[in-house]
Amino acid sequence: MSGKSATLIVDNKSFEFPVLDGSTGPEVIDISKLYAQTGMFTYDPGFTSTASCQSTITYIDGDEGILRYRGYPIDQVAEGGDFIECCYLLLYGELPTRAQYEEFENRVTRHTMVHEQMSRFFTGFRRDAHPMSIMVASVGAMAAFYHDSTDINDPVAREIASVRMIAKVPTLAAMAYKYHIGQPFIYPKNDLDYASNFLHMCFAVPCEEYKVNPVFARALDRIFTLHADHEQNASTSTVRLAGSSGANPFACIAAGIACLWGPAHGGANEAALKMLEEIGTPDRIPEFVERAKDKNDPFRLMGFGHRVYKNYDPRAKIMQQTSREVLGELGIKDPLLEVAVELEKVALHDEYFVERKLYPNIDFYSGITLRAMGFPTSMFTVLFSVARTVGWIAQWKEMIEDPEQRIGRPRQLYRGEVERSYTSLDKR
Ligand code: CMC
Repeated sequence: MSGKSATLIVDNKSFEFPVLDGSTGPEVIDISKLYAQTGMFTYDPGFTSTASCQSTITYIDGDEGILRYRGYPIDQVAEGGDFIECCYLLLYGELPTRAQYEEFENRVTRHTMVHEQMSRFFTGFRRDAHPMSIMVASVGAMAAFYHDSTDINDPVAREIASVRMIAKVPTLAAMAYKYHIGQPFIYPKNDLDYASNFLHMCFAVPCEEYKVNPVFARALDRIFTLHADHEQNASTSTVRLAGSSGANPFACIAAGIACLWGPAHGGANEAALKMLEEIGTPDRIPEFVERAKDKNDPFRLMGFGHRVYKNYDPRAKIMQQTSREVLGELGIKDPLLEVAVELEKVALHDEYFVERKLYPNIDFYSGITLRAMGFPTSMFTVLFSVARTVGWIAQWKEMIEDPEQRIGRPRQLYRGEVERSYTSLDKR
C-alpha cells in the first residue's frame, strides 16, 4: 500500500480507492471493491490500463525500452548465460549456483523424450497441417499421457509438469516439423545442450551424421532467452485465465500456444518475413510504407510497433546483432536482409512512424535469422512457443501459489437488445 488513495466522484458521491505501489513502475489503483461500492464496472478494451495480477517475474518499461527478468536486464541475461540458466531464473527467482544449474539441466535433459505412443498421435494429422495446429493439439494431449502430474494442488506434481513441458515441448515441436516434411522423427540426444538438441531433432536424418553448427546453436539459445517471458501479454494472460479455473497445466499451456498463433502476437515474425518477401526489393519500400500509412488500407508494416514498447524494443537490438552474426559468419547475403535494413531506415525517419513511436520489434529480425538457419516460416511461431513455455509456466505457478488468486471473470458493457418476447418460427 502506498498510503495514497484515489477518489472517484459519481453523481456528487465520492468513493475512495487504495493506491498500491510496486517495487518499480506505475502505481495501481485497487478497484477490486469498485462494483460492490458503486454498482459500476470499468471499461478497458484490450486491458490497456488494467493490471490483472501481482507478479515478481518480469518487468517492462515500454517508454524507456526496459525489459528485466527477475530484475536482471534482458541484455545481461541473454549475453551472460544460456537459456537453461534463464529458465531457472524465471522459475525460481534467482540465478543458479553451478551445482543448481547442473542439477536443473540434468533434470530437463532426462525428460526430453516423449511417450512413444505420442508418435502415433501425430500420424492422424494431414502432412500439410500447420505445425502450430499440431502444437496446440499435442501439448494439450500431454495431459492424456502424463496424468500423474496434473494435480495442480500438489507442489511436486506442479514441479514435474513444469520440467516435463520445458523438456518435451521442443521434442514435440521438432516432431511437428519432421512430420510436416515427411521425415522420420529424431530422438533427443542427451549429450547436447538445449538449443543444439533442438537443432539436431529438427535437422538430423538417420542416414548421415549431423553436426550442430555452434553459431546456429548460440543464436537459437539467444532467441529462446529473448522470447522466454514478456509480462502479462495476450498468451500469458490466456494461460493465467485458463489456469484460474483449475485447469491442468498442459491444457493451460496449449491455450497459450493457441493465443500465440495469432499474427498480432507470435505469428508476427512469420508475417514480417512474408511482408519482406512481398516487398522483394528496396525500390518497392516507399509503396509499402505509403500503404501502411493509408487509413483505408488494412496493410500494416509487420514487425513494427508494440503495445507496450513506445521506444526501441530492447530485445530487437540483441536480435538485430544476432541476425548479423548468423548471416555474417555464414557468409549469407540475404536480399531480404537488405530490404529489412532499408525498411528500418525509412520507417525510423518517417513522420508517421516517429509520431506514433512505431519502432521495429523483435519479430522484425528473428524471422530473417531463423530463415538463415533453415527453418521454414511455418516453424517460426512454433519456436516462439518453445521459448515462451518457461515464461507461461513461471506465470502459471505464480498464479496458483498466489493466495489472492480467484477465477478470472471479466464483466462487460452490455449494449444489445433489452428484453423482448420470443416469437415462434411460424410467426416470424
Ligand atoms: N504499421 C502501420 N501503422 C501502425 C502499425 C504498423 N505496424 N502499428 C500501429 N500502427 C498505427 C495504428 O494505425 C494507429 O494509428 P492511428 O493512431 O493513426 O489510428 C497507431 O499506430 C496506434 O496503433 P494501435 O493499433 O492502437 O496500437 P496497439 O498497441 O493496439 O497495437 C500492435 C500494437 C503490435 C498490435 C501493432 O503495432 C501491430 O499490429 N504491429 C504489427 C504486428 C506486429 O509486428 N506484432 C508483433 C508485436 S511484438 C511480439 C510480441 O511481443 O508478441
